[in-house]
Amino acid sequence: MPRLPRVADTTSTLSTAVFSQLASRAAALQAQGRTIYPLHVGDTWMEPPVEARAESQRTEDHPGLHQYAPVQGMPVLLDAIGRRLERLGRAVARERLQVVNGATSGLSIVAEALLDPGDEVLLPSPFWPLIRGILAKRGAVPVQIPFWDRLDSIDVEATLEAAITPRTVAIYVNSPHNPTGRVLTTAQVDAIARVARRHDLWVIADEAYQDLSFSEPRPSIWTRDDLQDRYVASHTLSKSYGLAGARIGYLHGAPAAMATISAVQVYSTYCAPRPMQIGAARVLDVGDAFLAKRRDEFAEAGRRTADVLGVPHPEGGTFLFVDASPWLPRDAEDAMPFLERALDAGVQLTPGASCGDHYARFVRVCFTSLPLDVHERALDALRRALG
Ligand SMILES: Cc1ncc(COP(=O)(O)O)c(C=O)c1O
Repeated sequence: MPRLPRVADTTSTLSTAVFSQLASRAAALQAQGRTIYPLHVGDTWMEPPVEARAESQRTEDHPGLHQYAPVQGMPVLLDAIGRRLERLGRAVARERLQVVNGATSGLSIVAEALLDPGDEVLLPSPFWPLIRGILAKRGAVPVQIPFWDRLDSIDVEATLEAAITPRTVAIYVNSPHNPTGRVLTTAQVDAIARVARRHDLWVIADEAYQDLSFSEPRPSIWTRDDLQDRYVASHTLSKSYGLAGARIGYLHGAPAAMATISAVQVYSTYCAPRPMQIGAARVLDVGDAFLAKRRDEFAEAGRRTADVLGVPHPEGGTFLFVDASPWLPRDAEDAMPFLERALDAGVQLTPGASCGDHYARFVRVCFTSLPLDVHERALDALRRALG
């Protein structure tokens, strides 16, 4: 039977609307001349350090700048990543590194390398909206486990154990966390590691917010001795350095995974863009002062936003995740009435449903999309919506 015009089952349910449910209402308000503050986007407003910018890389300085790069990554970037990982807590052998075109692409490659269709992945929820689709497009089954919004009251080990089946092959761990702003404690990481070892799971560590921990950074899960044979970590320069459009990230992990990951990279994008790799290499070495400034400003924006929402201050990341029930009619099925009211007041937020099936009445609020003085005006709009 010909398939046309039907597309593949695994991807037919994916949609580009994950963040844009409210886009047409926002566009209509903007057409009337209204300002809509974009607290729904997962980006940061600060321009990247000069060294990393596209316009700082010139063909005169780098002959062949627009040629293919080596699949694994340019040596200058691999060197810088090696130094950076060592500073983050553990040296990683050069042959275990892979440069990728940002973490969205990197995690897709990880899913293809580690998972077969039908494999189950423990997905503590709420979660970064794209990870569900990344797993689904591989044909894997994301097993959503309400987790992050109740971290202080659950038994982490028992909660994960209860979701294990004979088909479970991996667990996805993202700390500092999008969207709750929580950071795992060492005891919580211990519990996750015990479950991973007991059931022979891959640990997929999403380190997107590694540099945005607002108190003392806690050691990342991938640095543990007992997970060296079963982890893959994904890093990106998007959040740390304001380089989301540069599409640069890197993977590293257990030798058993990395050979296949490099092979999948060949058939995915082949290589990451040379100009941005050169910029990335520079900023990994010289960007610490930028990071410190960024962290302080984001932490302050996070505290002010949390105070308006009446929730605890974020421990890291760029988001807060809030149960909107107090501002919703009791019978509302989802947060839409509040999201629409917020939009009418001038602020766009993300529906919690995009972060997991259990969170229809929640909203996600980004506190890093605007400079602090403009963010204050967005918070005024939010106050109006909260009534
Ligand atoms: C937790 C998490 N992982 C990965 C990514 C993707 O990052 P990149 O811009 O490198 O694709 C994001 C982006 O929002 C994120 O929040």
